Amino acid sequence: MEIIDIAKEIAIACGEILKAGFNNILEIEEKTGPGDIVTDVDRRSETYATKQIMTLRPDDGLLGEEGVSVESKNGYMWIIDPLDGTYNFALGIPLFCVSIGVYYNNEPFVGVIYDPIHNEMYSAQRGKGAYLNNKKLEIKPYDGVSDAVLYLSWVKGSMERKDFNTKVQTLFEKTSHIRRLGSAAIGFAYLASNRIHGFVEVGLKPWDVAAAIVIIMEAGGTVTDFYGDKIDITQKSISIITAGKELYSDLYEEINK
Ligand code: IPD
Ligand code: CA
Repeated sequence: MEIIDIAKEIAIACGEILKAGFNNILEIEEKTGPGDIVTDVDRRSETYATKQIMTLRPDDGLLGEEGVSVESKNGYMWIIDPLDGTYNFALGIPLFCVSIGVYYNNEPFVGVIYDPIHNEMYSAQRGKGAYLNNKKLEIKPYDGVSDAVLYLSWVKGSMERKDFNTKVQTLFEKTSHIRRLGSAAIGFAYLASNRIHGFVEVGLKPWDVAAAIVIIMEAGGTVTDFYGDKIDITQKSISIITAGKELYSDLYEEINK
């Protein structure tokens, strides 16, 4: 079975775990503080994904948000968020997903983001295109920030927060179409499907971006860190600017003024 098909199958099964647990959470634990939480459902989803990956791909490595960490013996590394949008999930907001990225020798290879409530499967493999369910994705050209729909977000406690506020100030002033959805992976998926035009966030973790990077690149988008460099997936705190090529240049200039 191809890696992308394994990833999709796991995402669908994890999605069933999330749907069953939605509005039915048994345990909520604070991580760094209120709003940064983990539930029994996040953990069940990660345990399921881990078992499947380790059974089907025993030599692959694995990194999961809720603690799983296995070294790779063959260059393949799975980077998973078993539930992205946990705070939405706990509040009863039906916007969350499973995010599964696979890297090969530190290069993006496969990405799957699955929203089980809306039954939307975003998937991509390097060189083979990005899809929303069976529809091929292609980011449409968009120029200029003044009417763009921009996802602007920071992560609480992120070192760059103050600096970020200064950097995005003019973006806030130039467009009123601001979005922040509570799930970075859903935001990235929406960018790949032209529901959002541009995305700027700091303080993200590898599992927030791993799947999305493959999907956005395959949909024809540009994705870099704030310095215009390729995203280093091993960083503990990741900054990101992403959009179609034209808008990306505008966003990069605004952030680096
Ligand atoms: C969080 C969400 C949020 C983003 C945070 C993530 P979680 O993930 O994606 O939108 O701003 O950086 O940690 O905790 O819901 O998996
Ligand atoms: Ca999570």
